[in-house]
Amino acid sequence: MDFSDQRLSYEKGQLDQQSVPESPFELFHSWMNDAIEQKVQEPYAMSLATCGTDMKPSVRIVLMREITETGIVFYTNYQSAKGQDIAENPNAEVLFFWHELERQVRISGSIAKIDADKSAAYFQKRPHDSQVGAWVSQPQSGEVANREVMEQTFEQLQADYPENKEVPTPEFWGGYEITIDEIEFWQGRANRMHDRIVYTCDSDDSSWITKRLLP
Ligand SMILES: Cc1cc2nc3c(=O)[nH]c(=O)nc-3n(C[C@H](O)[C@H](O)[C@H](O)COP(=O)(O)O)c2cc1C
Repeated sequence: MDFSDQRLSYEKGQLDQQSVPESPFELFHSWMNDAIEQKVQEPYAMSLATCGTDMKPSVRIVLMREITETGIVFYTNYQSAKGQDIAENPNAEVLFFWHELERQVRISGSIAKIDADKSAAYFQKRPHDSQVGAWVSQPQSGEVANREVMEQTFEQLQADYPENKEVPTPEFWGGYEITIDEIEFWQGRANRMHDRIVYTCDSDDSSWITKRLLP
């Protein structure tokens, strides 16, 4: 397959360093609202890249569940492959790509587990069968002989925890927050003259410094 003749001209927006807000969170909220208004499917789906001590990067999609005042939160199995990477190296990067808006947002920062109480509160809000599913997928990323084994475990757990019985929050499952150190906003433009504005957090006073980057 050859895609070398496939080209789109990006012409839906622009980004000026002079007019971006002081706080990248303001711009991130505004772009997220645009993505929701434009009906981007799962605009909070993001590619999460991690790298453990084996120095081999891994990437996968996870769902951002919250934008806090300092970063972004997602939920997963702490004993998954990504959980292992994060335990070895807390530095991570995430990427959102909203094709409908010709926009990309790239975030880097350090990851830490959120409070167990907050994870439990979120777990208990999830649909009952998703809660059961979290117990089935233990350890997430571990090998399973076949689909039947998974389904049998699921059915057994459904029988142990019928709809009216609370599914306990697994200790191995919860949220991580990525505290944002750097966030880049990319707006596609014509002729590959894209706009890239990056905000870097100044470690002295936590203010944000902006730069325009070459596309
Ligand atoms: C749209 C979409 C959303 C996903 N959301 C999550 C999520 O929020 N948390 C999660 O652990 N895995 C999620 N996954 C599954 C992950 O991509 C991945 O398969 C899983 O977490 C195991 O990754 P690991 O082996 O790198 O730890 C999602 C996958 C897709 C395609």
